[in-house]
Amino acid sequence: DYEKRNGHKGTVIWLTGLSGSGKSTIAKAILARLHAEGKHVNCLDGDNVRHGLCSDLGFTADDRSENIRRIGELAKLFMESGNITICSFISPYQKDRDFVRSILAENRFYETYIDCDIETCKQRDPKGLYKKALAGQINGFTGIDSPYEAPQSPDMRLKSDTFSVEDLVETVIEQLKEDGII
Ligand code: ADX
Repeated sequence: DYEKRNGHKGTVIWLTGLSGSGKSTIAKAILARLHAEGKHVNCLDGDNVRHGLCSDLGFTADDRSENIRRIGELAKLFMESGNITICSFISPYQKDRDFVRSILAENRFYETYIDCDIETCKQRDPKGLYKKALAGQINGFTGIDSPYEAPQSPDMRLKSDTFSVEDLVETVIEQLKEDGII
């Protein structure tokens, strides 16, 4: 009934990638595009989740898993009420991303790899965190002294060090149309 009313299907677009790879920028651009087209869409990312729902969690492997578990469960509830939910989190562990896939209906989870060379991320360093991590002021920073497990077979791969944000948004929109989500 939700999907009939909305005129599109609910789904979860899960953006995973290194800090500075462009996840939040791409998430906002996808959100703006779908919103402008009248779709029921929302966005979860570190800015709105780590300060509230997950403010008790840090960056150990266990805390990151719990962060992703909670976000996955929340995204599932949104999906079940017909929303397109864009999630933008480093989510460095494959098992945590696989967990989110496992709780969602089939074909309603897009593991989307924001593929960006780490040297480019370090150069961008939008929050100055790579600089701090390399100076030893932050421990366990993803890509420096904490692992990032790149998806081996993502549903979408967005090369954010090569293509423009507009081009990447177009890629996502085309995929959603091809799959009959929108
Ligand atoms: S995740 O690993 O649990 O998925 P999440 O996406 O929520 O991480 O948060 C990542 C953001 O937290 C980064 O963009 C950065 O601003 C900040 N951050 C603080 N400490 C760390 C750290 N040790 N590793 C990675 N990101 C960190």
